[in-house]
Amino acid sequence: MTELIEVRHLKVRHVPKKAAAKELVKGIDLSITKGRIIGIIGESGSGKSMAMKALMGLLPEGVQAESQSYLFDGQAVKDAADLPISMIFQDPMTSLDPVRTVGYHLREVIFRQQKLSKAACDQLAIQQLEKVGIPQPEQRLKQYPHELSGGMRQRVMIAMALLTNAQVLIADEPTTALDVTVQAQILALIQQLQEETELTVILVSHDFGVVAGMCDEVHVMLEGQFVESGSGEDIFYRPQHPYTKKLLQAAAFVEEDQGGASL
Ligand SMILES: Nc1ncnc2c1ncn2[C@@H]1O[C@H](COP(=O)(O)OP(=O)(O)O)[C@@H](O)[C@H]1O
Ligand SMILES: [Mg+2]
Repeated sequence: MTELIEVRHLKVRHVPKKAAAKELVKGIDLSITKGRIIGIIGESGSGKSMAMKALMGLLPEGVQAESQSYLFDGQAVKDAADLPISMIFQDPMTSLDPVRTVGYHLREVIFRQQKLSKAACDQLAIQQLEKVGIPQPEQRLKQYPHELSGGMRQRVMIAMALLTNAQVLIADEPTTALDVTVQAQILALIQQLQEETELTVILVSHDFGVVAGMCDEVHVMLEGQFVESGSGEDIFYRPQHPYTKKLLQAAAFVEEDQGGASL
């Protein structure tokens, strides 16, 4: 079967002007099957975000990526930035303009895809907000990012990501900044979108509690490499690598004693 996206031997390097280069991602392979949720788990600093930003062509200055190949639907793609992927981040505020309304953000994304009238854009934006579970979408269009809760902002980011017509959604620590109840709601939304629309998702987290329940496949990342890969069940119930075992133990601690709060 042809994979939706295949990435072979992806490396990411920090090349500072006056110091030696450092490998941040040391040659990882990713096969992304349509309609699946793929988890990437590893401690902070293990290179998860750099690997994902490389797939988006969004690396910071001084950081370079190289790969043996990027394939989309079996066809070679020259530049990672041309892969049909969009990404949401831990803190939606960093990607939202504080002086622009929710409607402005959504219209911008829609208008880049297709030249519609403002009214038609709004109609599409409202539909999309409904799809991601935002109540009273007409009113929301007029609100500013700071007027929304963290969970609602992340829903807006997901709506924007889906409007780009990307086929893969990378969610990089999408719930880390949210409290546990809202975290569960956002994960449930991602799962629902995956089931209803066959969305393909790469879910990145440092927290096994987030990744364990909902991923078809999991890659465990340590110091720029995948040290263990397998089905969600294998990784969760039959971990082989000592690092995977350590992450599982850590997750068992954080699952206790966290109060929930509402949206
Ligand atoms: N802008 C940057 N320039 C150079 N190195 C960076 C930059 N941002 C992060 N790094 C380094 O890249 C490594 C991987 O970081 P990152 O991919 O953000 O880890 P993770 O997402 O797994 O927490 C870390 O060692 C980090 O210090
Ligand atoms: Mg990160």
